[in-house]
Amino acid sequence: MTVPLLKIGVVLSTMAMITNWMSQTLPSLVGLNTTKLTAAQSGYLDRSTGVLPANPEESWQVYSSAQDSEGRCVCTVVAPQQTMCSRDARTKQLRQLLEKVQNMTQSIQVLDQRTQRDLQYVVKMEDQLRGLENKFRQVEESHKQNLAKQYKTIKAKMAELRPLIPVLEEYKADARLVLQFKQEVQNLTASLALLQQEMGAYDYDELHSRVSSLEERLRACMQKLACGKLTGISEPITIKTSGSRFGSWMTDPVAPEGDTRVWYMDGYHNNRFVREYRSLVDFMTSDNFTSHRLPHPWSGTGQVVYNGSIYFNKFQSQVIIKFDFKTSTISRTQRLDNAGFNNAYHYAWGGHSDIDLMVDEGGLWAVYATNQNAGNIVISKLNPVTLHVVKTWTTNHPKRSAGESFMICGTLYVTNGYSGGTKVYYAYHTNSSTYEYIDIPLQNKYSHISMLDYNPRDRALYAWNNGHQVLYNVTLFHLVRSEEL
Ligand SMILES: *[C@@H]1O[C@H](CO)[C@@H](O)[C@H](O)[C@H]1NC(C)=O
Ligand SMILES: *[C@@H]1O[C@H](CO)[C@@H](O)[C@H](O)[C@H]1NC(C)=O
Ligand SMILES: *[C@@H]1O[C@H](CO)[C@@H](O)[C@H](O)[C@H]1NC(C)=O
Ligand SMILES: *[C@@H]1O[C@H](CO)[C@@H](O)[C@H](O)[C@H]1NC(C)=O
Ligand SMILES: *[C@@H]1O[C@H](CO)[C@@H](O)[C@H](O)[C@H]1NC(C)=O
Ligand SMILES: *[C@@H]1O[C@H](CO)[C@@H](O)[C@H](O)[C@H]1NC(C)=O
Ligand SMILES: *[C@@H]1O[C@H](CO)[C@@H](O)[C@H](O)[C@H]1NC(C)=O
Repeated sequence: MTVPLLKIGVVLSTMAMITNWMSQTLPSLVGLNTTKLTAAQSGYLDRSTGVLPANPEESWQVYSSAQDSEGRCVCTVVAPQQTMCSRDARTKQLRQLLEKVQNMTQSIQVLDQRTQRDLQYVVKMEDQLRGLENKFRQVEESHKQNLAKQYKTIKAKMAELRPLIPVLEEYKADARLVLQFKQEVQNLTASLALLQQEMGAYDYDELHSRVSSLEERLRACMQKLACGKLTGISEPITIKTSGSRFGSWMTDPVAPEGDTRVWYMDGYHNNRFVREYRSLVDFMTSDNFTSHRLPHPWSGTGQVVYNGSIYFNKFQSQVIIKFDFKTSTISRTQRLDNAGFNNAYHYAWGGHSDIDLMVDEGGLWAVYATNQNAGNIVISKLNPVTLHVVKTWTTNHPKRSAGESFMICGTLYVTNGYSGGTKVYYAYHTNSSTYEYIDIPLQNKYSHISMLDYNPRDRALYAWNNGHQVLYNVTLFHLVRSEEL
């Protein structure tokens, strides 16, 4: 039996960044002239880039722009005349890359605001790359044709890798890792330059594998670091069919490597037993579980397991309890002031679902409603240790008409109902305190969703649908932004 890969999420983000770069920088690296990126008066980049034919008979034209008021990146690629296509390897390489650009831009809406500093970095890097490029050109022109071909492959790899660095640099959160990558790339570059001078002194295979492994790790790093905006939800996969109509299940998004325990809570009240399954496979294939008895029954299905503790709303109260599984003790209890409870402001399906706790890339959140906000959804960021409210946002969306809600990268997504045709139709961005209406279909396979939560580690949505435990993959789209730091 195969386990559904939870690694998941066709993350367009990386592609988008690479695409951006490919459409703007790459053509110049493979030998076509390009206009320099220019900084607009606002300090933001004017992203218009034209790639004009270096040689008039090569009728390449790439044009990309993100000047659209809605921040859309519009990329237009004009292919060369047929007769030009196979003239030389470089042209062919470029043609393939442009094709990729064309493929990817279909789904791209990029708002990419970079600072001057980043620009300088990129420009500097381009200069370095050009220098390297020239050296390689000399190698290619030498008589050692066979070797030159191999270096060409490495060179292409290098060209692919290096522009990832400035993007990575934007994520200072993992600065140490980035620095290490940077050093490795620099080392590799140095090796290559040396290699160019002492042809044959280095082992091609070894270099090649170094480049490959670096590439792999860089991409993994990008995936890990990239946050984004929800643009699509896959069809559901049913993991298990068990329990009553209402309940919740999850994995811990910050569990240590190798800990894939599944947590399972059947029902929305009158229960205080949490089931622990050793792994997703165990969960799917067996009923071998350990039971944990909570000191109080829970309310609703808004529980979340985070860093080894379960956070839940105590039945018929405003109280949030943090219960540590390892020690089987309550480590914190805290009232959520003004929060409606006891079916005052439940989700559309009812079930005392007044207070919904959830975790995204940014940490722990509580979603509820208050009289003060006229029963509309209120979002609070919570300190996971003290359970104190760090910050609160008030939305204009009535909680009782929301099907469910989940948080991804600081944006709360709300569905339009729990039965029948379902979609995600409202999004509240805590970063900007703004909302928008969206339309992302969510297949409601068993017609009664009583729990829907995002897991930032798996990049998946966990749902409880009418006694079925299901998973959805999500597609996130990344916006590169310097001020996100
Ligand atoms: C999510 O995507 C992964 C990789 O493409 C796949 O293996 C897995 O089955 C998908 N899961 C769902 C719920 O669609
Ligand atoms: C590239 O374009 C710039 C400005 O348009 C021009 O000055 C330069 O000579 C061009 N370089 C090549 C190699 O065509
Ligand atoms: C672009 O898409 C087409 C059709 O979807 C595919 O055949 C082609 O291989 C893609 N090209 C690249 C470079 O990914
Ligand atoms: C890069 O090279 C320097 C000096 O040769 C060395 O000290 C360092 O460990 C290398 N770094 C990596 C990541 O390979
Ligand atoms: C049941 O799970 C426990 C750990 O949760 C494990 O030690 C035990 O081997 C499992 N039993 C079976 C029959 O799989
Ligand atoms: C998880 O808890 C441990 C202490 O129990 C703490 O050191 C660590 O920072 C926590 N991790 C997260 C992601 O909160
Ligand atoms: C906030 O995040 C959303 C989605 O992640 C994005 O669309 C929006 O532009 C961001 N706003 C600001 C001010 O960063």
